[in-house]
Amino acid sequence: METSIYKMGNCAADDAAVSKAANVIKSGGLVAFPTETVYGLGADACNPEAAKKIYEAKGRPSDNPLIVHIAEFKDLAYIAKEVPKKASLLAKAFWPGPLTMIIHKNNNVPYETTGGLDTVAVRMPDHFVARRLIQMSGRLIAAPSANASGRPSPTLAEHVAEDLGGKIPIILDGGEVGIGLESTIVDLTEEIPLILRPGYITKAMLERIIGEVKTDPGILAAGDGARPKAPGMKYRHYAPRASLTVVNGNKEAVIRKINELTDKMRAKGKKVGVIGTDETAKAYRGDMVLSLGAREDEDVIARRLYRILREFDEGEADVIYSESFETPGIGQAIMNRLLKAAGHQVLDVAEYGGSKIV
Ligand code: TXA
Ligand code: MG
Repeated sequence: METSIYKMGNCAADDAAVSKAANVIKSGGLVAFPTETVYGLGADACNPEAAKKIYEAKGRPSDNPLIVHIAEFKDLAYIAKEVPKKASLLAKAFWPGPLTMIIHKNNNVPYETTGGLDTVAVRMPDHFVARRLIQMSGRLIAAPSANASGRPSPTLAEHVAEDLGGKIPIILDGGEVGIGLESTIVDLTEEIPLILRPGYITKAMLERIIGEVKTDPGILAAGDGARPKAPGMKYRHYAPRASLTVVNGNKEAVIRKINELTDKMRAKGKKVGVIGTDETAKAYRGDMVLSLGAREDEDVIARRLYRILREFDEGEADVIYSESFETPGIGQAIMNRLLKAAGHQVLDVAEYGGSKIV
């Protein structure tokens, strides 16, 4: 299949391309489109055959449910068994935006879309192309991130083409996304709402609107046996091809440790990648040293993370060492994705003493 890529220019002229894409959605096909978080791979959420195609194109396990993207608040009532009060409050505060809510579904949503679950994930994306596509197709759009299963989520249309070129008819190219990490997922079917995936909307932001919120223990610690509730969070997602280790501790100790490991690996003929920051990148001896940006600019770090993981793939790094990032804001989401990419391989060098890096 030939994949057409249409560049979006932020204006009405895009309607011709979006209209073609909308026709593909209407006829049960797949379209990749930009959102504010990452690119999505969309299909008609209420057409079981269309939803199946998504799993096929991504190579995604079919028990991993999809997020239904809507363009207007009233669309929620079309798929919800009932709209919880907290959902209305959160929608008012954060939609359109990077927040996905889990609610009980009704019969309009097929089990093919929800991976067999009686609940459905819903969000209203904050991107004009995404919303226009939903409106012009007259459908709700089920969309996971538009990467091949197991690869980092796409933050550029080029990433989508790399993974899905030849497998889907249309990619709408909106340039680089704004946020770069997937939406926060909050489960409203629990008595106390539960964060299943951290993102740009933090626990504190949610609590300001709806009171107490908990975080799924399954996504927090490495290897403590707790199983994440969101089926997708159990897979080794967001993974580069090289083996990745996060090195945690004070700045000097981390640099020393990463350089020591780098020398060892290079002596074995391995190509070593290092993920640093503008403050530290010059101190590393890896074959590929990439900076995520200034340490205090978390928004930039979040936006660049997946792109950089893909660059290591292209550069054919064998092993990657990364500094760690954890702050109360989006730093939590950054660290969550980094740990998943690393398969939770963390090296703690805090015992070297000195000031902690995080
Ligand atoms: O930012 C985003 O959310 C992006 C853009 C494209 O909107 N989408 C995205 O979709 O990240 P995906 O499929 O890569 O991740 C969806 C996550 C998976 O971990 C899945 O298991 C979880 O949401 N999920 C979906 N429906 C669920 C449900 N009913 N109960 C629990 N988890 C659910
Ligand atoms: Mg994904």
